[in-house]
Amino acid sequence: MNHGAGHVMMITKTSAFLAFLFLCGCAATVNDRVPVDKDRVASWNSKLVIAHRGASGYLPEHTIAAKAMAYAQGADYIEQDLVMTKDDEVVVLHDHYLDTVTNVSDVFPSRARQDGRFYAIDFTLTEIRQLAVYERFAKDGSTKTPVYKGRFPVEKSTFRVNTFAEEIELIQGLNKSTGRTVGIYPEIKSPAFHRAEGKDISAKVLQILKDYGYKTKQDLVFLQCFDPYELQRIHQQLFPEMGMAVPLVQLLGTDPQFESALTDEGLSQVAAYADGIGPSLYLVVKPGSSVVATDLVDRAHELDLVVHPYTFRRDQLPGFADDYQQLLRIFFEDVGVDGVFTDFPDLTKEFIVSNP
Ligand code: G3P
Ligand code: CA
Repeated sequence: MNHGAGHVMMITKTSAFLAFLFLCGCAATVNDRVPVDKDRVASWNSKLVIAHRGASGYLPEHTIAAKAMAYAQGADYIEQDLVMTKDDEVVVLHDHYLDTVTNVSDVFPSRARQDGRFYAIDFTLTEIRQLAVYERFAKDGSTKTPVYKGRFPVEKSTFRVNTFAEEIELIQGLNKSTGRTVGIYPEIKSPAFHRAEGKDISAKVLQILKDYGYKTKQDLVFLQCFDPYELQRIHQQLFPEMGMAVPLVQLLGTDPQFESALTDEGLSQVAAYADGIGPSLYLVVKPGSSVVATDLVDRAHELDLVVHPYTFRRDQLPGFADDYQQLLRIFFEDVGVDGVFTDFPDLTKEFIVSNP
């Protein structure tokens, strides 16, 4: 899975995961983490539906339409992947590139970098607003081929890129009008890349969270990142400086560089700053034609970490599941995860309601 240039930078560093944590004074135990009274955070104890980029199985990812649909389909939390613009706005995009989900190459053909990519950080919000957002595609010459063939057609309708603040206002507005309490699940994308470009994305994201009332472990938010260095910095430096401390989730990939974080020692270090982990589903059940579960969930639960694996897709099933219901049964009932990132919030909610 491509997590963007910043993620690649992180992977090259992650082999020093444990060494770094010890060097920065995080060789402590889970008891050093700000304690969370999980009885007060009742939603943590139920099976959570986390809408991955919205109801992205049905509408182009991260559009307001996809987020509203996810809300209506019963999601408990709705995800925002976050990157920054040239003029320091925080926008909701999975990659810090614009070229896999927009018509940027048609509107601004001369604005690619030498690598041929169009970086969100090279465009102002006003410029980005001029772009049409499409269903995710792979480009072959001038042909845009959909990544998921059965989903919303590419180059149809009139979707736009949204800011993080706009999306929070949508969810908080719906919470007011419906009486529900749906949370947000922002991911800080490529913090090392942003820093190299002169931008502190984490400080910006935290300020927006604080401005909108997400300040404590009891608030309806999980803040996620693949980069352990950045989560450490947030926990140790930014939270005290900004007078806030929201739940943190360490994302974990299948790349070999994450292996040290998956050991007992590594997981214990993660538990010193994070409240949960977001592993690839293949770190929970091994890829293959039969179900072979790892002990990751049990070991995480022993450390009081919630486990929210990604990504559950009806149209991209692992070899060990014959259908989407079976996939959910394996993870919720056999393995016991606390929630899942899914492109199909409706099917996931239906399963949970039918299998309480
Ligand atoms: O953040 C959980 C999951 O979304 C991680 O994968 O690449 O879709 O952001 P990605
Ligand atoms: Ca994400």
